[in-house]
Amino acid sequence: MTNKQQKICVVGLGYIGLPTASLLGTKGFSVHGVDVTQSVVDTINQGKIHIVEPDLDILVKSAVGSGNLRAGIEPEPADIFILAVPTPFKGDHEPDLSYIEDATRRIAPHVKPGNLVILESTSPVGTTENVVARILADAGHKIGEEVFIAHCPERVLPGRILIELIENDRIVGGIDEKSTAKAVEFYHSFVRGEVLATNARTAELAKLTENAFRDVNIAFANELSLICDEQEINVWELIKLANRHPRVSILQPGPGVGGHCIAVDPWFIVAAAPQSARLIRMARKVNDAKPDWVVEKVRTSAKKFKRPVIGCLGLAFKADVDDLRESPALHIVRQIQQEQLGEMLVAEPNISTHAEFDLQPYQDVIKRSDILLLLVDHKQFHGLRASDLKEVILIDTRGVIK
Ligand SMILES: NC(=O)c1ccc[n+]([C@@H]2O[C@H](COP(=O)([O-])OP(=O)(O)OC[C@H]3O[C@@H](n4cnc5c(N)ncnc54)[C@H](O)[C@@H]3O)[C@@H](O)[C@H]2O)c1
Repeated sequence: MTNKQQKICVVGLGYIGLPTASLLGTKGFSVHGVDVTQSVVDTINQGKIHIVEPDLDILVKSAVGSGNLRAGIEPEPADIFILAVPTPFKGDHEPDLSYIEDATRRIAPHVKPGNLVILESTSPVGTTENVVARILADAGHKIGEEVFIAHCPERVLPGRILIELIENDRIVGGIDEKSTAKAVEFYHSFVRGEVLATNARTAELAKLTENAFRDVNIAFANELSLICDEQEINVWELIKLANRHPRVSILQPGPGVGGHCIAVDPWFIVAAAPQSARLIRMARKVNDAKPDWVVEKVRTSAKKFKRPVIGCLGLAFKADVDDLRESPALHIVRQIQQEQLGEMLVAEPNISTHAEFDLQPYQDVIKRSDILLLLVDHKQFHGLRASDLKEVILIDTRGVIK
């Protein structure tokens, strides 16, 4: 039985690991959090946070204050180990599993009979078995008899992590039935959503499938935006009309796909099944090509001026967040700057300063621009009307300007 006397060791204290560790701490588990970055460990031990997420500061303060959460550089013996380390890609979109390998090697000396090891990092099919279980077996552990291993992918949305950690349905897949059963029991102890049991490989592919589904559907919308541009049709109106069909639900196009999940995870499917994953690969390419298409629009418009003022609205990877990781908007703005297409003005209402760009109030950017490029549908930009911006060339990649 899972009981709250159990000790949990959470490895990787970022956007996934820290909310998980602090939530478990406030639920009464004794949690030891591990991170390779000393400043992260120190910050958490002071009851503070190093990432931005609503209410996380309160949760961490409470978990650390109660003595149920401590952080350290080295893992400690525990009943349950949770791995939440990064899984980026490297080279030609190959999955980089070195963080999972390292984290597993670091816990291996502390694992004992009866322990459950859960991989939460988004992982290519086979990682739970061929990386985590193999490394622990090589370290002398009797996998499936004494040590149990499962994958439980995380599907929370930044900005709602603390709600979704509890409310979302979870997919749990062990490398054998006993491992699945133990992991299901653990998640039942704090998740209100359904806990759905499967095997490790299916759980791995389920997470990748969810993000590939989003990517393919966004690519369809982005492709439509190119077709509409050539044929002088308003893509936003087109999609609105087509979506009135009872079985059609097209997503919205944009300047590209950013963030560290949808733009990354589909490549793990492509890398494992290069011959079969043709549509998934093509969707990645369509979405990755969109920022350059936007830059080309700016280039063409800029030729109509001697030296235009180019106003860029938004840098974040999506609306109403301050997260610039893998942001197509950032890529576009950098390219415009590099090519010196004009005098560039940049506004990002969700951050106060940026190392590369001198940020301006968005109202000033709108007033001064010859070419106005809307890159992110932040709420501040929703009231903009083309009729108020008469003399300006508008490139609205999100369809928010009326
Ligand atoms: N952030 C999200 O919204 C989200 C959503 C679903 C799934 N995921 C997946 O969760 C996993 C973690 O993502 P994240 O956003 O929390 O990453 P992150 O970069 O925010 O945090 C990872 C942390 O792990 C630490 N770390 C790296 N190697 C380590 C090691 N060997 N031992 C201990 N600590 C180590 C880093 O210092 C960092 O603090 C990834 O696989 C990601 O794809 C993330």
